[in-house]
Amino acid sequence: MLRAFYRSLAPPIRHSSLRMPLKGKIPGRRMFSVQDSLPRLPVPPLDQTLNKYLRVVQPLLTPEEFKETKQIVEKFAKSPGPELQEKLLHRANVTENWLADWWLDTAYLSPRGPIMIHINPGLTMPPQDYTDEKGQLKFAAKLIAGALDFKIMIDEQTLPVEQLGGKPLCMLQFYKILSACRIPGPKIDTWKNYPPNEPNPPGHIIVLRNNHIFSVDVYDKSRKPLPVSQLFKNLKIVAEQSQQSTAPLGILTTENRNTWGSAYKRLCKDKDNKKAFDVIHRSIFVLCLDRLFPLDNPDSRLTVTANQMLHGGGSDLNTCNRWFDKTLQFIVGPHGICGLNYEHCSAEGPPITALVDHVVNFCDKAEETTNSPVESDPPRRLKFNLDTQTLEDIEAAKVHADSQISDLDLTALTFNHFGKAFAKSSKVSPDAFIQVAIQLAYYRIHSEHGSTYESASTRMFQSGRTETIRSCTPEACEFTRAMSEGKPREVTEKLLRTAITAHRQYTADAISGQAIDRHLLGLKLAALESGQNVPDLHMDGAYATAMKFKLSTSQVPSKASKTVMCYGPATPDGYGVCYNPKDEKIHIAVTAFNTSPETDSSNFVRVLEQSMLDMRTVLGETVTSKL
Ligand code: COA
Repeated sequence: MLRAFYRSLAPPIRHSSLRMPLKGKIPGRRMFSVQDSLPRLPVPPLDQTLNKYLRVVQPLLTPEEFKETKQIVEKFAKSPGPELQEKLLHRANVTENWLADWWLDTAYLSPRGPIMIHINPGLTMPPQDYTDEKGQLKFAAKLIAGALDFKIMIDEQTLPVEQLGGKPLCMLQFYKILSACRIPGPKIDTWKNYPPNEPNPPGHIIVLRNNHIFSVDVYDKSRKPLPVSQLFKNLKIVAEQSQQSTAPLGILTTENRNTWGSAYKRLCKDKDNKKAFDVIHRSIFVLCLDRLFPLDNPDSRLTVTANQMLHGGGSDLNTCNRWFDKTLQFIVGPHGICGLNYEHCSAEGPPITALVDHVVNFCDKAEETTNSPVESDPPRRLKFNLDTQTLEDIEAAKVHADSQISDLDLTALTFNHFGKAFAKSSKVSPDAFIQVAIQLAYYRIHSEHGSTYESASTRMFQSGRTETIRSCTPEACEFTRAMSEGKPREVTEKLLRTAITAHRQYTADAISGQAIDRHLLGLKLAALESGQNVPDLHMDGAYATAMKFKLSTSQVPSKASKTVMCYGPATPDGYGVCYNPKDEKIHIAVTAFNTSPETDSSNFVRVLEQSMLDMRTVLGETVTSKL
């Protein structure tokens, strides 16, 4: 059944294009060729999950709390655990992925908070060398062409199958990042995408400039991608027609989802509005041509860029010039600042960075061409009829967005002392090394351990998304305490290597569907779906503590330089930590909230850098700190 679905997707379209090879892929395998043979996400054995759960909550609880939790878990193992487990096993038998729909609803569509900062990650791209508006538009034209070049491989299903640890990965996420949009609802959102095999596939992008919203065709009449020169001409028309700023409808996408959902429903009663929204939803992606502003301190360029990508800098800068519901919005700002913001419903970071790596390569190599004019319609400004209520909503949204932005504290920088190569030469996993360093930094600052989330990919399974690696393992805690107590190097080295091995084991469990978080969520949802109460295990304070992730972390690798993803913390007093390890350096972005007196992103980064240097010394390298 699935195979028929993939075959029915894109009819091959032939284009001559500048095609970049994708590294780290299985050569010669077409995008969905192994899809049907991918295993289904397993339901782990109940006792295995419950034992692991006790192991991960122990460092977060007092001995008395732990004793109580142990009793609750033992009771759950007798009832209702086995009955709920049966329900999950049945669901796994009759669905392609027992978790997929539940996860989309629970993690993304149901939560009613704003998606800016809290759900949508930002991603910086390598800085460009343009300094004026003409340079900005020229780069933007190349970027569009690069994204369309990548789209050809998706449409033709020629994108090589990615792999992790030698195993092929589910490629469906690539099919969902273009021509897709989240649509607000007063109680729950929906997510839609417009695949290229539909009779009239989208052939336009949305360009936002000075809050004006334009639909810009990117294909000619024979559905060939427009050349860079023609795209540039079209962007110039947009720029000419958007000199003055206008009422920023896009700011409503930063609102609490109920508020935006109700406003959207009301706006859709007007036919022009409904039509214009559909044009946005169907568009291949959004391009934000941002307002130019002075860059005061070039040293903090990565931080400025990350802020622009995550939220746009406030309603008087570029936050109004966004459509946060759009799955992919490229942002081309002043002084060569560029990157993107993406809505998380459909994909994790890796497919997005694969696209970005391709676009960056394309832009570096694309020639300045002066092709003869091509037949294409000029850009069209979308017509919205905004009533007084909407204008008031817009003003309220600006205030709410500004208050969230002023609460966000973000530091992005490149750790230049060493990168993956050092860890590999010390025979340890680079990711585990960084994760243990994050644990050490947190303990050094807060003198306690904090529940930690690291994303692990479950794309080895059909429609797989993520599982949680709980990096705050008992072994990592023991190492961080030993470091703080100044134990001798022979002791700390042994503990560090043990902590890294434990992290690596957790990672292996998570990517193979044998970790605990999604399983525990499934057991809870199985209870709710069959009309039962939330089980005591899930009502226990230990579960709440375990789910209060003080550290929300993720590795999002990319080949392009100066590329780092960023997102807000998961709790008011926590940190968001994202990193892109390269061979000789690590790009890092850390966020915290200003309203939390305990957290400070720049301090966290400073302590993290020192922790990594100290851990290098522990592993036997003598190093002179440059900090
Ligand atoms: N000795 C020497 N080399 C080692 C080693 C060791 N003990 N352990 C690992 N390595 C090598 C690996 O072989 C790998 O080599 P490569 O660069 O040639 O491929 C490299 O070090 C990196 O491995 P490691 O750091 O262990 O991490 P990983 O690449 O396996 O990634 C995760 C770990 C968890 C990040 C990954 O499994 C994952 O799930 N990624 C997706 C996360 C995601 O979705 N994020 C987005 C959320 S929006």
